[in-house]
Amino acid sequence: RILIVDFGSQVTQLIARRVRECGVYSEIVPFQNAEAALREAPPVAVILSGGPASVTLDTTPRAPAMAFELGVPVLAICYGEQAMCAQLGGRVEAADHREFGRAFVDIQRDCALFDGVWQAGERHQVWMSHGDRVIAIPDGFEVVATSDNAPFAAIADERRRLYGVQFHPEVMHTPDGARLIGNFARRIAGCEGEWTMAAFRDEAIARVREQVGKERVICGLSGGVDSSVVAVLLHEAIGDQLTCVFVDTGVLRAGEPEQVVSLFRDHYNIPLVHRDAADLFIDRLEGVADPEKKRKIIGSTFIDVFEEEAKKIGGARFLAQGTLYPDVIESVSFTGGPSVTIKSHHNVGGLPERMNMALVEPLRELFKDEVRELGRELGLAADFVDRHPFPGPGLAIRLPGAIDRERLEILRRADLIYLDEIRKAGLYDAIWQAFAVLLPVRTVGVMGDERSYEYVCALRAVTSTDGMTADYYPFDHAFLGRVSSRIINEVRGVNRVVYDVTSKPPGTIEWE
Ligand code: XMP
Repeated sequence: RILIVDFGSQVTQLIARRVRECGVYSEIVPFQNAEAALREAPPVAVILSGGPASVTLDTTPRAPAMAFELGVPVLAICYGEQAMCAQLGGRVEAADHREFGRAFVDIQRDCALFDGVWQAGERHQVWMSHGDRVIAIPDGFEVVATSDNAPFAAIADERRRLYGVQFHPEVMHTPDGARLIGNFARRIAGCEGEWTMAAFRDEAIARVREQVGKERVICGLSGGVDSSVVAVLLHEAIGDQLTCVFVDTGVLRAGEPEQVVSLFRDHYNIPLVHRDAADLFIDRLEGVADPEKKRKIIGSTFIDVFEEEAKKIGGARFLAQGTLYPDVIESVSFTGGPSVTIKSHHNVGGLPERMNMALVEPLRELFKDEVRELGRELGLAADFVDRHPFPGPGLAIRLPGAIDRERLEILRRADLIYLDEIRKAGLYDAIWQAFAVLLPVRTVGVMGDERSYEYVCALRAVTSTDGMTADYYPFDHAFLGRVSSRIINEVRGVNRVVYDVTSKPPGTIEWE
């Protein structure tokens, strides 16, 4: 395996993901535990991540010395490069210019990291994000690439197989980055590249068995892909120790409860408790306008329901959820790190502290498209695996302003028409996620010979690969016109339809 030492970068998981894409197994350890992990089982290679700290301060994290002594290849990225330089005899100082965003590197020499990708004399786009910079490299190293603000943009000690890059090869904005990581994992570290999602599935099953032992587990099903994949995975891992609970929160889309119940009971033969808690949720949500409050209420109501269901089956020690990596990174704020809470994804930041079940989250390291691959691996039907994501807090976060039952019903009907038209136009699979939002604003219109004064419905559709960044979908105007007139004609309460053309960032995909 390749060991990734995490210095707290927002994108450390992307390194792991790129390594997985090369068919190589990797493990991430926080820098504090890296020494122990190296001692326990020496990896075939080490990658040092970026991080928010400054190597110029004595108190900040360092790489475990052992990483450089084992004789295995090391790829040190950004903060990792600076730490490696500082630890092996080079020097780092704070730069006058922060280099942030797109930059270009000039390749000075060929090296194994660039093999077949970049050649001496070429110039290539990369993504930089650093304040400090290396000003002297340790003995044995050579400069293999430079940039305007980083004379040591890439360095190598080919004899010891130590490589450092100031830029981030793991992000999409370094277009050749994945291939550089591939070179490191396969050519330099010599990994075979045979690791697959099937292997992940076996490891995940083994980990779940180890974590839960003989205890009972409750799995909350939302009807989305993530929780369904978790349910099927757990069913395979622990059979009838698992109870799946599908909670009708009253903020689901039209037809959703029926679909989920029939899929699990009839198709997969997984026992399912169908709990209609619509009134409980809506009573608590009614009149609430603040998005974070909505998320917290939904999170804690879910737990109340799960705890009641756990009692009914004589107690469950664990709650399984389909938490994905982007949910984790956007909800968690690392101490001293650059990552701040964007929104409390209900299954991470939205959970109440008083909860007395431990969490089982086998997808916590994965990105959405990887979960889909895992779903296919587990035999979930393609049209189910390729469903658009649907957030746990459901329609409640697509209804800006105070929640009420009437507006919720209007939204549900508009959403159904919008998705129906998307399917009819054959666009469903080209879009990452599409949904309607009902604004708490009424505008004047004229319908027939009457004045109308009704709500505005906004339509959202985005493309994305992992939900971390997204762009609006460029529908043609005829399509938008068709959806607009159907919604206005068929849904009482809406007299105006608008289309959201915001990307993420600066927007998020959901409106709340
Ligand atoms: P945002 O709105 O943060 O959404 O750009 C990124 C993706 O995550 C989904 N999302 C959630 N999923 N619980 C979930 O299970 C949540 O609380 C939650 N909030 C957002 C969103 O639909 C999009 O696919």
